[in-house]
Amino acid sequence: MSNRIESVLQENRVFPPSEAVRAKAAISGMEAYQSLCQEAEGNYEAYWARLAREHLVWQQPFSQTLDESEAPFYKWFADGKLNVSYNCLDLNVQAGLGDKVAIIFEADNGQVSRVTYKELLARTCRFANALKAQGIRKGDRVIIYLPMSVEGVVAMQACARIGAIHSVVFGGFSAKSLEERILDAGAVAVITADEQCRGGKAIPLKPAVDEGIALAAAAPGGCPAKSVIVYKRTGGACAMEAGRDLWWHELEAAQSDVCEPEWVEAEHPLFLLYTSGSTGKPKGVQHSSAGYLLHAKLTTLWTFDVKPDDVFWCTADIGWVTGHTYITYGPLACGATEIVFEGVPTYPDAGRFWKMIQDHKVNIFYTAPTAIRSLIKAGEVTPATHPRNYDLSSLRILGSVGEPINPEAWMWYYQNVGGARCPIVDTFWQTETGGHMITPLPGVTPLVPGSCTLPFPGIMAAIVDEAGHDVEWGKGGFLVVKKPWPSMIRTIWGDPERFKKSYYPEDLGGRLYLAGDGAVRDAKTGYFTIMGRIDDVLNVSGHRLGTMEVESALVANSIVAEAAVVGRPDDVTGEAICAFVVLKQARPYGDDAKRIAEELRNWVAKEIGPIAKPRDIRFGENLPKTRSGKIMRRLLRSLAKGEDITQDVSTLENPAILEQLKEAA
Ligand code: PRX
Repeated sequence: MSNRIESVLQENRVFPPSEAVRAKAAISGMEAYQSLCQEAEGNYEAYWARLAREHLVWQQPFSQTLDESEAPFYKWFADGKLNVSYNCLDLNVQAGLGDKVAIIFEADNGQVSRVTYKELLARTCRFANALKAQGIRKGDRVIIYLPMSVEGVVAMQACARIGAIHSVVFGGFSAKSLEERILDAGAVAVITADEQCRGGKAIPLKPAVDEGIALAAAAPGGCPAKSVIVYKRTGGACAMEAGRDLWWHELEAAQSDVCEPEWVEAEHPLFLLYTSGSTGKPKGVQHSSAGYLLHAKLTTLWTFDVKPDDVFWCTADIGWVTGHTYITYGPLACGATEIVFEGVPTYPDAGRFWKMIQDHKVNIFYTAPTAIRSLIKAGEVTPATHPRNYDLSSLRILGSVGEPINPEAWMWYYQNVGGARCPIVDTFWQTETGGHMITPLPGVTPLVPGSCTLPFPGIMAAIVDEAGHDVEWGKGGFLVVKKPWPSMIRTIWGDPERFKKSYYPEDLGGRLYLAGDGAVRDAKTGYFTIMGRIDDVLNVSGHRLGTMEVESALVANSIVAEAAVVGRPDDVTGEAICAFVVLKQARPYGDDAKRIAEELRNWVAKEIGPIAKPRDIRFGENLPKTRSGKIMRRLLRSLAKGEDITQDVSTLENPAILEQLKEAA
């Protein structure tokens, strides 16, 4: 990480917007950007109120913009009413876009199907009616555990239509993770599929739901989820429990194409999305309806500069916030045509993304640095999959999200994918922020590889020290947001105290949103560079994981006495998980150690999901601890990187242990 930051800080390549991009952009030129920022600074509430009136359609207009009376539990547009799915679907049909393609779905096996706005609305209504027929009502929580599919989008939109609160769980998470989320959210139903198709394989999905529900049933009060709706993706073997499990297609067939939207208050929760924090328990980030949708739409328009004829492609999974904002809500709220891709970037070969851009004439492409870095490598190994072999001339704008992009990967993306013609918007944001926070705008911002540049207009980002005071440009500190914004997290589901402690800590005065990232502003330009998390959160391939979460999973195994987890830099995944483990039995060696390490990796995959599997596992008779018994994580991080230990180890209870922990099993 430190190498990356040095290279960004020394970066002197600057790429101003081309005339072609600037001329057509929604926000065109630095003056236009500055005038928006000044409008927001001059009258913050009036700025957001104007945008909320211009970009959203309200069933009942709001009269108060921001209510700070219970800060930091802010309320936006509170007495207004609207419906998110109405704003995304009905409005486009009413505007004459009914026959426009909303979703181009490409399956893992390459099969392509198209869904128009009219069809998407009808399917959403049918499914919304089906949910209602199951007794699901406004405010009920519904878990969605689906592969990338049109059905995934329909399920989310249908919940929004009836005011049910969805909580999407990424298909790579385990039964145990499902259980935790079902219980924490008090979900009344789970929507899933028989199987998912990835990389040419069909992978069962439903068994994890059965197991998750069985685990939840053992909890005090039992399992709140009484129905399971199953989308038949492959028709593979799928056990159905009578009285609980229902087929999606059967339910849908019985329903009408019309479903009156449930008009909900602006602050009505649209969704919960669980994400990792610095404790072992994932937190249910709660988002609002109106404020969230406003930012989803606005950022899609301004950051991606989506135009009516564009084909937009965000490669994220709907299980992550990026898929929520830039697949299910933002592009549809703009009436765009978007791609939903079921498969993986490396199947049938590592040219899949480039071929799809060529086939569907994609104009705007949004992906993660990990994907870019792995495709750079793949293109070197199998030159036929290099982007130069594809016609990528349709591309106009590229985006990056989820983790820092190193300048080398940035340059490769810019030159080889974007043909040195397409601006890259390096968008910094988080599950909690709902949409982009710091990002270039394509027609405005001169780009510097590795920097997410400047705040989105209206986002009051700053860098402060431990006491909450501004630091000078050029000096590092904590990234904060000084004022509430419409799409911000509202609370942590069921745990308002944790919300306050995590995001509005008293040390900083209780009124600054603490992002949890370190950052620095360029001394001359004021451009922001993100330096990585300041808490115990790891970022592996753009996926957020808590070190404590992985540690709890490891110690839940009966052979493990103690475990400590840290991240180490990795060329492709950004960070890799390195676990230091003490077993209850004697420290294993050689093949024994390898076998146990593999067992533990699989165990973590079962407890959390395959993304949480530690890359390295190192066994010791103990962990390096101070005399007061605190694990010295700084030392572990150095060991994980393979660095020589230069730190003072005199306070260490057991210095001899360091030698044991140098090698992975
Ligand atoms: O550390 C930052 C990193 O990802 C974290 C948020 O993760 P998550 O909530 O899973 O959301 C990811 C998708 C929005 C941040 O705290 N991060 C996200 N985008 C960037 C980034 N780091 C550097 N540059 C980015 N563009």
